[in-house]
Amino acid sequence: MASHDPALWTRVDDYLAGALLPHDAALDAALAASHAAGLPAIAVSAMQGRMLEVFARMLNARRILEIGTLGGYSTLWLARGLAADGHVVTLESDPRHAQVAQDNFTRAGMAARITLRLGLAADTLAALQRDGTGPFDLVFIDADKASLREYVQAALALSRPGTLIVADNVIRDGAVIDAASTDASVQGVRRMNDYVAQEPRLAATALQTVGAKGYDGFALMVVKS
Ligand code: SAH
Ligand code: DHB
Ligand code: MG
Repeated sequence: MASHDPALWTRVDDYLAGALLPHDAALDAALAASHAAGLPAIAVSAMQGRMLEVFARMLNARRILEIGTLGGYSTLWLARGLAADGHVVTLESDPRHAQVAQDNFTRAGMAARITLRLGLAADTLAALQRDGTGPFDLVFIDADKASLREYVQAALALSRPGTLIVADNVIRDGAVIDAASTDASVQGVRRMNDYVAQEPRLAATALQTVGAKGYDGFALMVVKS
């Protein structure tokens, strides 16, 4: 039972999900359909998805933005946490992923609560800003990691004081501490951190996590009042 055993982290995640999570057929079906369609198994874990729902409920979120949909598993968790009249906008560049996600939203009975925007997030985020969309109460950033800094900047532009911005995959098995890393994702996280550190409108922390997805973590950033 070594505490640094990834197999144990997965068993503990399984235990926690069994102990704490309600059974949700739509979420299970979304994962199964994503797997059947050959999408990569990189969605948030169930416990991480529930964390997103908890954040949405804490904020009484009516407007949620997600960058990086994949099959829509995290999107459905975010939508679970929406206030009664709330809405999720989720951005995805891969048409195949978008189709799987849209089918998952429909199957879950959530299609009216979720808008999927197909295209490169940089373009869609610029369009959202031009259109005066927002402000969002919660932003979940989970697309290409090289662009994390730009996504946080765009999220901030679509925010109000109190908005929570969450970024996934910011620890990367600990590789984040390597300033000389040639990994574009590691450098993306480090550029994001450098930007956040000098942005006076944000108060930020980051949490290391272990679990079914191994060793990684989340950045949590709140827009100051
Ligand atoms: N949030 C999902 C997982 C997202 S995986 C979940 O937890 O269930 C990352 C997704 O970001 C992939 O589907 C990928 O196609 C998408 N993506 C990558 N680069 C992108 C970009 N530039 N614009 C929009 N989406 C992008
Ligand atoms: C990858 C992307 C993710 O968002 C994630 O949570 C895990 C892995 C990836 O691209 O490999
Ligand atoms: Mg992720």
